[in-house]
Amino acid sequence: MNVQWYPGHMTRAKRQMQEDIRLIDLIIELVDARAPLSSRNPDIDQMGQNKYRLILLNKADLADERQNDAWKAYFEKKGFHVVKVDSRNGAGMKAIQSVIAQACREKTERDRRRGIRNRPIRAMVAGIPNVGKSTFINTFAGKACTKTGNRPGVTRGKQWIRLNKDVELLDTPGILWPKFEDPQVGVRLACIGSVKDDILNIEELSLTLIRYLAEDYSGALAGRYGVREEGAPVEILEQIARARGCLKKGEELDYARTAALLFDDFRSGKLGRITLEKAPEVRNEGL
Ligand code: G4P
Repeated sequence: MNVQWYPGHMTRAKRQMQEDIRLIDLIIELVDARAPLSSRNPDIDQMGQNKYRLILLNKADLADERQNDAWKAYFEKKGFHVVKVDSRNGAGMKAIQSVIAQACREKTERDRRRGIRNRPIRAMVAGIPNVGKSTFINTFAGKACTKTGNRPGVTRGKQWIRLNKDVELLDTPGILWPKFEDPQVGVRLACIGSVKDDILNIEELSLTLIRYLAEDYSGALAGRYGVREEGAPVEILEQIARARGCLKKGEELDYARTAALLFDDFRSGKLGRITLEKAPEVRNEGL
């Protein structure tokens, strides 16, 4: 991730997004399925008032499938349309088309009543850095799409990607910043790789991840490294260091290298599909 998080940058990105939102009907908001609330900026709800809303649980391939379903239900209960996607391999892309049509049905019908036909839905992609916005746009738009821009009625300089006769996508995504008010949010974002590792105490963070995995995903560490999961997190880290030969000169264990290896494995899914933030229970109010 090469975004510098300084206030000027954030203010500019927010202003840009506020301008762009005026041009669109639908916000396609990407969140990271491994930490869906921590990886979204709730300001978007304010900015996106009166817009149709679609939430994509991106990187669903890396997250726990039961939790994916629970999060989908959670956001749907809040009134969002939701699709689980893997932008890297394209899973979920087909479903998006019909969900967009559903989400914007009111507008399409209103247009039809007024005799307006073939006015495409305009959408923009938004999300925090590294959540997969560019990957999604590339996969979803594919190669077949044509870029349009500088046409009458199109704000000068804006590039739209014509996805089909029904949908146009703004080709520059809206960048949002995560909110760090709750320290746990920072921890989750750091674990999924959305905060630069060099500003973190990676060894301490690895102990937090180990504790969580041993408790909530028992077998994940044992399966990958052959360690016993009963001990204190630091003992498990030691066992991983030995199992992987992470040693400094003189047989001293190299904890920083072990932590880096653990995060590489976790972030690339080698420890299995893991969700760091559990969905609040959604009760069925029918009974
Ligand atoms: P951004 O525009 O929101 O900043 O994110 P970007 O598309 O650059 O994606 C950030 C990283 O997340 C990339 O990995 C990308 O491949 C990966 N990614 C995006 N969507 C998915 C998904 O649905 N599943 C999985 N598993 N990964 C996804 P990278 O390591 O930074 O780059 P690369 O090595 O893949 O090129």
